[in-house]
Amino acid sequence: MVVQQLEEEIAELKKKLGAVIVAHNYQRPEVQDIADFVGDSLELARRCAEVKAETIVFCGVDFMAETAAILNPDATVLLSVATACCPMAAMIDADKLKEWKERYPKATVVAYVNTTAAVKAGSDICCTSANAVKVVQSLPNDEILFIPDKHLGHYVSTKVSRKRMILYPGYCIAHVRLRAEEVKMAKEHYPEAKVLVHPECREEVIELADAVLSTSQMVRYARESPAKTFLIGTEEGLLHRLYKENPEKKFYLLSPRLFCANMKRTRLETVIETMKLKRNRVTVPEDIRLKAKQALDRMLAVV
Ligand code: 13P
Ligand code: SF4
Repeated sequence: MVVQQLEEEIAELKKKLGAVIVAHNYQRPEVQDIADFVGDSLELARRCAEVKAETIVFCGVDFMAETAAILNPDATVLLSVATACCPMAAMIDADKLKEWKERYPKATVVAYVNTTAAVKAGSDICCTSANAVKVVQSLPNDEILFIPDKHLGHYVSTKVSRKRMILYPGYCIAHVRLRAEEVKMAKEHYPEAKVLVHPECREEVIELADAVLSTSQMVRYARESPAKTFLIGTEEGLLHRLYKENPEKKFYLLSPRLFCANMKRTRLETVIETMKLKRNRVTVPEDIRLKAKQALDRMLAVV
């Protein structure tokens, strides 16, 4: 079926279900183009919390749809593909968190949103890549247990003062593939370019960057910067938005391996199937939802 037919079918189903479609910045271009809203994790969380719709169709990965279900219990949240998961979020579960909390009983637990609802429920406050520094800086306690991304945690530790940060050893399997050597070579090739990287990248990559930003912050930076060329250190899906919103500028991905297979599971056909069958509903048990919501609400109150 041609893309136009698929788009028409999606528009029909949206009406029938009273649905809004939201998509993460890493989704395939054609999926981003049918979404009502495209954004980074923080923007998507805010949007899903506020949106008045019977159904939210979430084109992204499991923890993002779960966050939507936690923040908007009145809506039916459908994940575009049941198996679209985040391997980083799977690196810590509620039992492991309990062990770490017992080891560091005085620490305030800061959970990256890339975690399950049960892990959020055991945490004091959440953060995303867009607000992690502000969230940690806002905390009165000087001892922080940061889960699960050690690279984001390390980056935050270089930006906040007077905090002892204990880092859980999780990581993003896509962003760690970018090596400092690739960044150095690209910078030699395009000396005039600005280097924008995601804080899930390795420390040695972050040190070479002009700016360390969430995905939507990269789009804003590119729009506002007088620079014409940018070297991008995040998942390749972001290039679609970067080009769409800045057609006169040039963007080069720092490595062809910056690819998240889970983000790419969603296609127009899977969005249609999900909506037709109303499948992949994401629900969170109420006791866990309320605790996880507290951690998310604390984050949303900071920035
Ligand atoms: P952003 O919140 O920056 O969009 O990142 C989400 C994510 O999963 C990065 O790998
Ligand atoms: Fe998870 Fe990394 Fe994929 Fe983001 S890019 S969803 S952190 S595996």
